Amino acid sequence: SAGFRGQVTLDGPSGTGKSSVARAVAARLGAAYLDTGAMYRAATVAVLDGGVDPDDAEAVARVVAAARIEVGTTAGEEVVLVDGVDVAERIRGAEVTRAVSPVSAVPAVRRQLVDQQRALVEAADAVVVEGRDIGTVVLPDATCKIYLTAAPEVRAERRAGQLGVTDPAEIAALAEDLRRRDEYDSSRADSPLRPASDAVIVDSTDLDREAVIDRVCELAGRAVRAG
Ligand code: DC
Repeated sequence: SAGFRGQVTLDGPSGTGKSSVARAVAARLGAAYLDTGAMYRAATVAVLDGGVDPDDAEAVARVVAAARIEVGTTAGEEVVLVDGVDVAERIRGAEVTRAVSPVSAVPAVRRQLVDQQRALVEAADAVVVEGRDIGTVVLPDATCKIYLTAAPEVRAERRAGQLGVTDPAEIAALAEDLRRRDEYDSSRADSPLRPASDAVIVDSTDLDREAVIDRVCELAGRAVRAG
């Protein structure tokens, strides 16, 4: 390992390759890894299984407060449990993806999961944490803050590649879905998606995955030397 100690926060919209970069950076730095989006997705599974409307904030808060949400902190295998049940695959499905924005906009849900995120981070000497509000709200004193972004068309094409979608109309629909979710996440009252004032903005529009990983590791190393 590079001997990194501290926290790297990786925030930004969906479709930037954030998860793949965050995992690779954690592996390279010998750090733990926390996917906070997986926690909001797991909370959404609890909401769907609880039979409540994802737009009913009060009911959502009640169901999530009663759910035991557990996520792993290693970059290798993904561990996501709701009340002891493995939901690692289910959280990536369309049903959860459609409902996660309103669930993650509920302040009581955010307070609960942010507390849990801070406890997991405190238990690690070195950790890479990915999400939307990690640099702004969850870990305002993080060692190194990155905001990863990319042009919307590029993000839609990358997402299409992952899903094996080639039809231009379907790619356009993916672009529209990304745009709608970003707008929702950026305009919500509690912890909107935005770069922290002290975050370094990395635009991956013209960078391949390896170049982004190199850049983030370089910034993490520089932050440690400056700290
Ligand atoms: O990164 P992702 O697509 O798995 O995130 C799922 C949703 O959860 C996304 O719509 C934004 C929300 N989210 C959030 O509000 N705060 C975070 N720290 C992480 C994700």
